[in-house]
Amino acid sequence: MLPCQRHLFDIPDDVAYLNCAYMSPLMKPVIDAGLSGLARKAHPWEITPDKFFIGSDEFRATAAQLIDCSADDVAIVPSASYGIATAARNLPVDRGQSILVLAEQFPSNYYSWQRLAADNGASLKVVPWPDDQDWTAAVLASLTADVAIAALPHVQWTSGGRLDLVRIAEACRKQGTALALDLTQSLGALPFSVREVQPDFAVAASYKWLLGPYSVGLLYVAPKWQDAGKPLDENWIQRANARDFSSLILYTENYDAGARRFDMGERSNFALLPAALRAMRQLLEWGVAEISETSGALNLRLAAAAENLGFSAPAESLRAPHYLCLRRKQAIPRGLPEMLAQEKVFVSVRGSSIRVTPHVYNTPEDCDRLIACLQRVAAT
Ligand SMILES: Cc1ncc(COP(=O)(O)O)c(C=O)c1O
Repeated sequence: MLPCQRHLFDIPDDVAYLNCAYMSPLMKPVIDAGLSGLARKAHPWEITPDKFFIGSDEFRATAAQLIDCSADDVAIVPSASYGIATAARNLPVDRGQSILVLAEQFPSNYYSWQRLAADNGASLKVVPWPDDQDWTAAVLASLTADVAIAALPHVQWTSGGRLDLVRIAEACRKQGTALALDLTQSLGALPFSVREVQPDFAVAASYKWLLGPYSVGLLYVAPKWQDAGKPLDENWIQRANARDFSSLILYTENYDAGARRFDMGERSNFALLPAALRAMRQLLEWGVAEISETSGALNLRLAAAAENLGFSAPAESLRAPHYLCLRRKQAIPRGLPEMLAQEKVFVSVRGSSIRVTPHVYNTPEDCDRLIACLQRVAAT
């Protein structure tokens, strides 16, 4: 367990921010890194061509450490949707086959697959919401031979249900189903290893559990999709001759090594990358398993108190520790997040769940303040 890290953030004492799944707060050193990155452009003469590559490769190497792969396998993308669209551009699907998604899957990991299926005479197959909350079993039961691609998260975002990706990936490999992952609601807070799961593609936006800024993220691309892979946008910096600025108009067919061909245009963003990098370094210093345990302990306290008030959550063994979704028989009152916000308690409502997502800056007192609010909700 980590001691509370609130001192690294700018969170007033009277704010109980339990909403990392919406957007994480930036740490003070992350803001410093971003601001000094932005300020570099005050002196563009100091931004030499090598700077377009150094920061990007530092980002790649640190992201690779976080997901347990080689730096060459990481591309820099602006969003989860961009990473998923890249996967959809490269993974084949034939007429009559299907693409597997979960019930209530996040739109960025849905629309690209819907289009790919429609363009190829294939169909989307939706894993139904499991009555027993066991998303892993539900996915395994839906993984029939016609599934060409399984497009999944690590954590189902409206229930907090955790998928056992090692088992699912093994089942995918057995029958030749490709696996594309959206890790946006888990990476940085739930241990994940490319080496263990071996997905084809895996993306995570930085602005939630990676504690980074908005509009940047990482995309893992398995080596087998790198050599002939088609990027979403064709830009100069992905190409093999990019380091020689004077020869960029000697157009080349060849791309830079590994997953770099999938990098977004202007990927060397001098403000966002240093900030995202600083945040990932902090995550590595804390340790993802420790973060999971720390936020998990806060959620356990919340889940037990909420249960006494008539709310339920998936069993501890079936949910992600950092991600608590509370439901009850009666509907959640409309406008609940706004009512709580007046008391400076911040959570989200997603689907029919109150979503509570603490991090290492939260205290037991933050949880108690939410519990006091839920007591009032339960009394109405
Ligand atoms: C599961 C999941 N994936 C992705 C995103 C963000 O997607 P994008 O980066 O495409 O805006 C969110 C945001 O809430 C999310 O909950």
